[in-house]
Amino acid sequence: MKCTILIGYMCVGKTTIGRELAKQTGRMFYDLDWYIEERFRKKIPLIFEEEGEERFRDMERRMLHEVAEFEDIVLSCGGGTPCFFDNMEYMNSVAHTFYLRATAETLQTHIRMSRGRRPLLEGKSPEELDQFIKQQLVERSLFYEQAQHIIDVDVLSNEEKVEAIVAKIRKGE
Ligand code: S3P
Repeated sequence: MKCTILIGYMCVGKTTIGRELAKQTGRMFYDLDWYIEERFRKKIPLIFEEEGEERFRDMERRMLHEVAEFEDIVLSCGGGTPCFFDNMEYMNSVAHTFYLRATAETLQTHIRMSRGRRPLLEGKSPEELDQFIKQQLVERSLFYEQAQHIIDVDVLSNEEKVEAIVAKIRKGE
C-alpha cells in the first residue's frame, strides 16, 4: 500500500492523528521533522539558526523523497513541506495525501497553548503572531488544498475527535 501523508498548518494535530492512524492500522509512523533531526543529528530550531531556512527546505525536500517511497507507513509532514519546490505534486504522485484543515482561530488557539519551539513563530507579540498565522494560512492554503482529500479538524483536544478524524481518513484511503 502507498504511503499516507498528512499535511496542514503547524499545531493542527498532524502528529497526534498520524500516530493514532498508524496504530489503528498496524503501520509504522514517521514524522518528517523527527526524521530530519535523526538523520542530521540536529534539532530543527538549530538547523534554522545555524544554516538558515533555505538549507532546511532543501534537507526537508530530500528527506521527503527518502521517506515517502516507503510502503505501508503513515507520514506527517512539517507545516511548510507542501509549499516548497514541487513537493505537493510529488506527494500526490507517490502517496495518499490528506490536508487536515482548521480555521485560523483554532490554529491561533493551539499555537498559543503549544510549548514546542517553532522557529517561524518565535519573537512575535501575540497580535503579530495572530496576524502572521492568518496571513500565512491564506498563502499556504493554495498548496494544502491540492491534497487528494481535505478533512476539517476544528477541535482536537479530546480523544473522540481524534478517533472521528482517523475514521474519516481510513474511509478515504
Ligand atoms: C514549519 C513547521 C514545522 C517545522 C519547521 C517549519 C513550517 O513543523 O517543519 O519549524 O514552515 O510551517 P510542524 O508543522 O510539525 O510544527
